[in-house]
Amino acid sequence: MSVLSSRSRYAGNPIEEEDRVADRLAMQGKKIIKLNRGDPAVYFRTPEYIINAYKQALEAGNTHYVDHLGIPELREAVVDRYRRVYGLKTNAEKVVVTQGVSEALLMLNFAVINEGENAIIFKPYFPIYPPYLEIFGGKPIFERYDEANEWNVDTDGLERSLKRYGKSKRIKYLLVTNPNNPTGTVLSKSILEEIVGLANEHKLLLISDEVYDELVFGHAKFTSMCQLAKGMPYMILNGASKNFDATGFRVGFAMMPGEDKTSNMIMNKFRDFAQMRLCANSPGQYAMAAAMNNVSEHKKAIKSMLAEMEIRVKFATKLINESRYMHAVEPKGAFYIFPKVSFEKLRIRSDRKFVDELLREEDVQVTRGSGFGGDGHIRIVSLAPKEILETAIDRINRFCSRHAK
Ligand SMILES: Cc1ncc(COP(=O)(O)O)c(C=O)c1O
Repeated sequence: MSVLSSRSRYAGNPIEEEDRVADRLAMQGKKIIKLNRGDPAVYFRTPEYIINAYKQALEAGNTHYVDHLGIPELREAVVDRYRRVYGLKTNAEKVVVTQGVSEALLMLNFAVINEGENAIIFKPYFPIYPPYLEIFGGKPIFERYDEANEWNVDTDGLERSLKRYGKSKRIKYLLVTNPNNPTGTVLSKSILEEIVGLANEHKLLLISDEVYDELVFGHAKFTSMCQLAKGMPYMILNGASKNFDATGFRVGFAMMPGEDKTSNMIMNKFRDFAQMRLCANSPGQYAMAAAMNNVSEHKKAIKSMLAEMEIRVKFATKLINESRYMHAVEPKGAFYIFPKVSFEKLRIRSDRKFVDELLREEDVQVTRGSGFGGDGHIRIVSLAPKEILETAIDRINRFCSRHAK
């Protein structure tokens, strides 16, 4: 009998899998350019007004356990934000504060997935979606974002699959990420309407991970699921990490505005699960409540951060598309680029080997596309200043030339 559970095999995250190698190289004196983790707070200081709110929470003694559902101030702030920005009418009862979107995803699968049940996930995906499902005995059904169509959701493919499955699969939910990590796709309203229509027709619970909802470039327009999915069960996931540039706070939330039986049953289980882990980071919650309520400071902070992010992402995409060895669809939001590598021109065969050897030979750490269900690609986090991005891409090109056929 193994000391480990069979489910423990799902533990791990491809985004960090090269970290120990990178640490070892750094200890040998190498300066590693780390473009693997999507952490804005490394490059953009968390806004001062949020840091001050955190400090005030500490000084006021808010270092103890708080309501397991989240402090009322934050749950109200979430409701106010969704009313202000998306016109949603809901109440704080429909919000559970979590330790980031990550924990909300865990709670979701805990609450709804039985052995052998399925969920629809679009490839390429945020890497923890499938294992969090599989830990509970679930199996992903993969639909796709289509690279040839600017990484948009292939809704025709989705419709065909849903017809084909009929009742033969027990599909518990359909999970959309908008804007998407790793492709930077911002889904148009009409595509979202098609997805909502299909979910309605096939009675699927809709989950919308909108953790990048304010990180949208230029003329792209973000539509929240709450603007379209009326009268059906759906859940929105969001939090402090990206829009508020506060990844380390570990504060997120799940919101399920529906008054229907399914929504109520799932929210009740979220509440029970929240009780088991006592509470999310308490000073972080006070800081987040202040951050969400301070609309004018937030506007200023996000405006300058987003403008700089867009410059960096566009700059890096241009350099990538000038390369003989990579091609990328220009992202419309978030801060990732997901180039296809021309492996046919290289002696290296897999993206896993590519990222491993790139790190050892050129001191640049990126993530293999296969970790996102996008074999043959790499993901480049484009948050670093332009000079660093330029150096990294030069080195990737040099690496490719050295390994060219
Ligand atoms: C799509 C997506 N969802 C969720 C998360 C995790 O967010 P959190 O820090 O709130 O756990 C990330 C982090 O990169 C992400 O890209």
